[in-house]
Amino acid sequence: MQNREQWGSKLGFILAASGSAVGLGNIWKYPHMAGENGGGAFTIVYLICILVVGLPIVIAEFVIGRKTQLSPVGAFETVAPKSNWKWVGMLGVASAFVILSFYGVVGGWTLKYTLISLTGGFSQLAGDPETSGTLFDSFIKGALAPILWQIVFMGFTIFVIVQGVKGGIEKWTKIMMPAILVILVVLMIRGLTLPNGTQALDFLFKPKFEDLTASSIVLALGHSFFTLSLGMGTMITYGSYLRKDQNLLSSALWIIFLDTLIAMMAGVAIFATVFAMGADPGAGPGLIFVVLPTIFPKIVGGAIWGTLFFFLLFMAALTSAISILEVITAYFIDEKGWGREKATIIFGSVVTVVGAFCSLSMGAFNITSFMDISFFDVLDYLSSKYMLPIGGMLTALFVLYRWGVPNFITEMVLGMDDHNINPAVVRILFMVSAAVVGFILLNEIIATITGTPIIG
Ligand code: TRP
Repeated sequence: MQNREQWGSKLGFILAASGSAVGLGNIWKYPHMAGENGGGAFTIVYLICILVVGLPIVIAEFVIGRKTQLSPVGAFETVAPKSNWKWVGMLGVASAFVILSFYGVVGGWTLKYTLISLTGGFSQLAGDPETSGTLFDSFIKGALAPILWQIVFMGFTIFVIVQGVKGGIEKWTKIMMPAILVILVVLMIRGLTLPNGTQALDFLFKPKFEDLTASSIVLALGHSFFTLSLGMGTMITYGSYLRKDQNLLSSALWIIFLDTLIAMMAGVAIFATVFAMGADPGAGPGLIFVVLPTIFPKIVGGAIWGTLFFFLLFMAALTSAISILEVITAYFIDEKGWGREKATIIFGSVVTVVGAFCSLSMGAFNITSFMDISFFDVLDYLSSKYMLPIGGMLTALFVLYRWGVPNFITEMVLGMDDHNINPAVVRILFMVSAAVVGFILLNEIIATITGTPIIG
């Protein structure tokens, strides 16, 4: 184990972990969720969820990873030998397979749309959501093109992971994260200086509590998990490449801050453009791939803004995808003694093949057609509604009832200046976090069985 790879710097670690957090969830999902759920009111609930539910679990994952210097399966096994807790780690590895399969498909879409914009393909879509919708539909439902783009996207992911922690993940996120921030600032200024662009600020940040429904609260909670990459050991794995001198509390706060900042900036950039061009802010999941291509060509220099936007989305997706593949790779390195290259290429390919079935399920061929739901949606639903919340809740319970809060604090304070952490406060935070997630799970299970949720 003495040869375990390490991050090269504190900043490198923070950028890599925020690169994992910042992804399609921030730029694609958050804006359309806020758009459909009353804007500002949703944003407030989302912020509370991130702090109350997200923060404790981010820290827990970092602490478990740094203490054991192992990826999830070995990490749980080390703290709780010969127990069933290693299955929480196994669940994480399984979640990684599931999530990356469909994530890679959407990653491929971002590449395709970058290219369409670059070659001026949006110009024929100006002000015409119908044609734009048809174009998008026929692309994602095709048998060949989306799979080829997915393979290219997965190729980039594998390419980065093969180069290792410092020479691959850290090196590339150190380039891509600043690029993402710069492009977002540019797009935000572009949007806000368009006539009526500032309406976006009202829309996103002015709370209209009458729009806040129970289901938007449930949504915000689930999303706070996904956006912080929690519940499948991503942050355990990234934490396992740390030395003991990193302040994990401040790192976690930085990552949450950057993740939230980027979601808000993406929201502002997108809605400013949407309002300026009189498009529909509540357009749902199609907001990015259908509505935006119809409004970019109406702005001066639209092809450039469109290309920047989709390239930004591609980089955000890539920095997340590498964190998911790293969980799989690290498992085979730590537990099976495989080499990095072999593990990455073999399982990157397996994920790509499963992902191809997700892509096909959009139209050409759906292996879960007997369930009346696409294979893509099955994997998305399974992971975000069940696997991640279960993994996150069990992580909190692990700290509370197996590892023990005092042991956890002893490890957490390494690298911190202030060693006076009140165990009672920590205990309450984990209990609240676990209870809230447990309730969401129960709500979902009841909704699935009876057809009516407790709330939402
Ligand atoms: N957080 C990323 C996003 O918002 C997605 C992601 C990366 C993820 N790693 C994860 C989600 C691990 C759940 C678990 O797009």
